[in-house]
Amino acid sequence: MLSYGARGNETTFALEDAVSALEGGYRSKLFPTGLAAIAVTLMAYLKAGDHVLIADAAYGPVKQFCASQLANYGIEFSYFSTSADDWAAGIKPNTRMLYVESPGSLLYDMQDLPAMAAVCKQRNVILCADNTWGSCLSCQPLKLGADVSVVAATKYLGGHSDVMMGVVTTQEAAFAPLETASVNFGQIVSAEDAFLVLRGLRTLDLRLQRHAQSALSLAGWLVQQAAVRTVFHPALPGDSGHALWLRDCTGSNGLLSVEFAPGISTARFIAAAYRPGRCRRVESRLDHATLIT
Ligand SMILES: Cc1ncc(COP(=O)(O)O)c(C=O)c1O
Repeated sequence: MLSYGARGNETTFALEDAVSALEGGYRSKLFPTGLAAIAVTLMAYLKAGDHVLIADAAYGPVKQFCASQLANYGIEFSYFSTSADDWAAGIKPNTRMLYVESPGSLLYDMQDLPAMAAVCKQRNVILCADNTWGSCLSCQPLKLGADVSVVAATKYLGGHSDVMMGVVTTQEAAFAPLETASVNFGQIVSAEDAFLVLRGLRTLDLRLQRHAQSALSLAGWLVQQAAVRTVFHPALPGDSGHALWLRDCTGSNGLLSVEFAPGISTARFIAAAYRPGRCRRVESRLDHATLIT
């Protein structure tokens, strides 16, 4: 419905349709940021008395949202460790949603989404996956059994550091609550922003391929350095999530994390790398995990 633009316009509808097709879902809704998309998604499916089980590797501000907002609405939440294979033990009788990132933020640990989907279906739990890493192309959680997939289009979909946006795509059975919440919370993006992401989609495949090549060659060099203990990048053979990545993903991207060997100062390394013109530009970022989370 066009309304007066408060429910969307032709450009936002075109972007929603494009993302639905890429994600292999029923329909999508757009939000002004990735975090707004996640926050509204949680509010769309959860009510007082419900519990949401969240991957501890989730994007930090999601945890902040849970800590400072969900309790106000009587919604319980708890975390499962993505490094231990015991997520099913965290499902309670009142669990309504399992919220995951695969791979997770910072260490890029892969989750077994089809196994999670099977348990969620039996227990009537909605499986919601943050697919920002997968960017609609490298991984498609809905095809692996998830009910809801969220992508921060601010990153690879936009691709030019000039637009913020989030997109949520669902299976048909899960769409109505999302649509209602997006209308009730007045969530909409401008035609101009939707145009910028539509433009980004045209080069998404090529950009992701190049990012993936660069990250893999950098990761391959890093693992050979004495100063490096571990490189976290699921496309790297030897990464703990490599087998799941081979099974569930068709590509990768430019994100990797490094753990230095004992005695190497991460802070000194970052300070040395942050020379003008290197690593601080939008094209390349280097962060200290404990300082940004
Ligand atoms: C995995 C993940 N999800 C969601 C978000 C939130 O996206 P936005 O910055 O558009 O709010 C981010 C941002 O870094 C992210 O890394």
